[in-house]
Amino acid sequence: MTHLITESAAMEDFGGHLAHACHTHSVLHLCGELGVGKTTLVRGFLKALGHKTTVKSPTYTLVEPYQLNKRMIYHFDFYRLGDPEELEYMGIRDYLEGNIICLIEWPEKGGQFTPLPDIKIQLFHHAESRLLEIKAYSIMGQSIIANLSMEN
Ligand SMILES: Nc1ncnc2c1ncn2[C@@H]1O[C@H](COP(=O)(O)OP(=O)(O)O)[C@@H](O)[C@H]1O
Ligand SMILES: [Mg+2]
Repeated sequence: MTHLITESAAMEDFGGHLAHACHTHSVLHLCGELGVGKTTLVRGFLKALGHKTTVKSPTYTLVEPYQLNKRMIYHFDFYRLGDPEELEYMGIRDYLEGNIICLIEWPEKGGQFTPLPDIKIQLFHHAESRLLEIKAYSIMGQSIIANLSMEN
């Protein structure tokens, strides 16, 4: 599935649609260069689930946790990860337990330690707009994409 998004507000709206399309225990990879809109999408995702305050980019902390409606949403950014093994030391597997959704920017920097995705969203600059390419990597991922196409 591909999707053209022409402005920042629409990127947040798309993040909101995605949040409603997601199932508990989903892992989403967000790929694309700096400034392409990954964090903007996550901001919309969190707002749609009821988060009211700012969404900080977890570039330096690796992860920001959000508790929303008895569910934990973990926003990861692996951009500054020096060594993928750091994910092993931080206990990355523990973040996959229970009622969770993980959104991961720069998943490729975590190598084999990055949790496998249900869906991967690749973002591209497209003139002043952004092009999103969304692919499923699991049955749950297919269901998320099916839910998304019903919403839009
Ligand atoms: N669809 C879009 N069209 C134009 N500008 C956008 C779009 N989505 C996001 N932006 C802008 O691009 C920048 C993206 O920043 P950010 O979301 O932090 O990127 P990333 O996390 O990928 O580095 C922000 O200034 C945002 O307002
Ligand atoms: Mg970012």
